[in-house]
Formats: sequence, structure tokens, C-alpha cells
Amino acid sequence: MLELKGLRSGYQKIEVLHGIDLKVEPGEIVTLIGANGAGKSTCLLTISGLVRATSGEIWFDGKRMDQLKPDQIVGLGLVQVPEGRRILKDFTVLENLEMGAYLRRDKEVRRDLAQMTALFPILGTRAGQRAGTLSGGEQQMLALARALMARPRLLLLDEPSLGLAPLIIAQIFEIIRQINKEEGTPIFLVEQNANLALKMANRAYVIENGSIALSGLANDLLGDAKVKQAYLGIAE
Ligand SMILES: Nc1ncnc2c1ncn2[C@@H]1O[C@H](COP(=O)(O)OP(=O)(O)OP(=O)(O)O)[C@@H](O)[C@H]1O
Ligand SMILES: [Mg+2]
Repeated sequence: MLELKGLRSGYQKIEVLHGIDLKVEPGEIVTLIGANGAGKSTCLLTISGLVRATSGEIWFDGKRMDQLKPDQIVGLGLVQVPEGRRILKDFTVLENLEMGAYLRRDKEVRRDLAQMTALFPILGTRAGQRAGTLSGGEQQMLALARALMARPRLLLLDEPSLGLAPLIIAQIFEIIRQINKEEGTPIFLVEQNANLALKMANRAYVIENGSIALSGLANDLLGDAKVKQAYLGIAE
């Protein structure tokens, strides 16, 4: 469904991704794990067209899309929840949700709003509240709900667990699992929390210094000695 072929990208003259090959198949949860600065966010930003690929290809659903604009990419159904959430702090919760649907022309936006408040009851309670005054966990829920309002065909998540307490993380991951299971939405999850990500994903890639160092079934990587030592903090 999504395929990166020999993808290179970076900032100004500095190349960050040195030829990434990676796939997400329909219905899958695929995770990309790696240390700080490995290039995880750069990879997502390149898929979303916010950072330009310098070479290589990005394919989505049989269409080559590495030359498309960010808006066109969202229009194809590739929707990203960026690191740090990026909700519109001065707008209300409801306005943020409505903005998630800005590219849609169908008549089911109302219905989906109701669905979001069923999935995240707190967002219903806080509909009129300024988004900047939500707690960190609530802001992550809003960012996720806003992305879902775009009716993604593939959801790209950049470290949804960042800075949140374990209980909130568990709630958010449960909802991500539910979206994948019930809607069949494939998910590409970038995480530094390797343990959590590997437990949730079907397949995984490990990125080190802008290159894929390892890939396979998430369950196999959970048991891999090298992964355990480097990313799970378990000495063998
Ligand atoms: N806007 C930018 N301009 C220049 N360099 C950047 C920019 N954004 C990121 N970089 C550099 O690119 C490299 C990869 O950063 P990236 O944000 O992709 O890492 P990451 O794997 O997402 O890390 P983290 O887990 O800390 O979020 C880093 O060396 C970073 O300094
Ligand atoms: Mg990052």
C-alpha cells in the first residue's frame, strides 16, 4: 500500500535518510523504532511531503507521490499526527476537529464528529474549551481524533506516547489498536518506546543513523538479542 524505495532526504546540505526501503501493507500496523535523531520524524515528514525527497521513490496505492504537495498527499488519505501534536491551541476542541475534515466534501462530517466524541468522551465534554488548555494526554487524543476526521486511508503517527503517563499511553494505544481493527486502517507508527511499539505492531523496522538496520515481525524483534540490548534496555 505504502512503499518507500531507496528514499533519501534531509535538510539543506545534510542528508538524514540514506536510502530507506520500507513497506506498509493493507490492514497492517508497522512500526519504525530508533534512537533520538535517527531520522524517524524526517521519514514521516518526507512521506507527508513536508520534507522533500532528494532521491528514491514513494508509492501509495499504485501512485508515485514523492513529487506531490502536502495537501495533495493528505487528499490521497495519508494523514499524519506530527510529533508534539501541533493542535491549534487558540481554537476550541470542536474547531480543531472540524479542521481535520477541511478537505472533505462529503456530508458525513457531523456523523464522524459524533463518532470521535464516542471514541474520546473527554473531547465531547471539552468541545468548547480552548485546545491549548487541554492536558498533554487530552491534546494527544485531540490530535489523533483530528487526524481521523480526515478519514485517513493510512495513519502516520509520530511518537504518540511522548511525554505521557503510562495510563494515558495505554488508553491511546488501545484506541489506535481499535481503529486498526474496526476500520482496518493501516498504521505506520514511529516510536522511541520500542517495547510498546513492538507489542502493538505486526512488523517493525529499526532505523539507525538514517538507515534501516533491522526489520521483521514485531514479535521476532521483541525477542532479538540486539534489539533487547539497544532498544529495550534488557541485557542478555
Ligand atoms: N529542520 C531541520 N533542519 C536541520 N536538521 C534537522 C531538522 N530537523 C531534524 N534535523 C536533523 O535530522 C536528524 C534526524 O532528526 P529526526 O527529527 O528525524 O530524528 P528522530 O528519529 O525523529 O528523533 P527523536 O526521537 O528525537 O524525535 C537529526 O540529526 C536532526 O538534528
Ligand atoms: Mg522525532
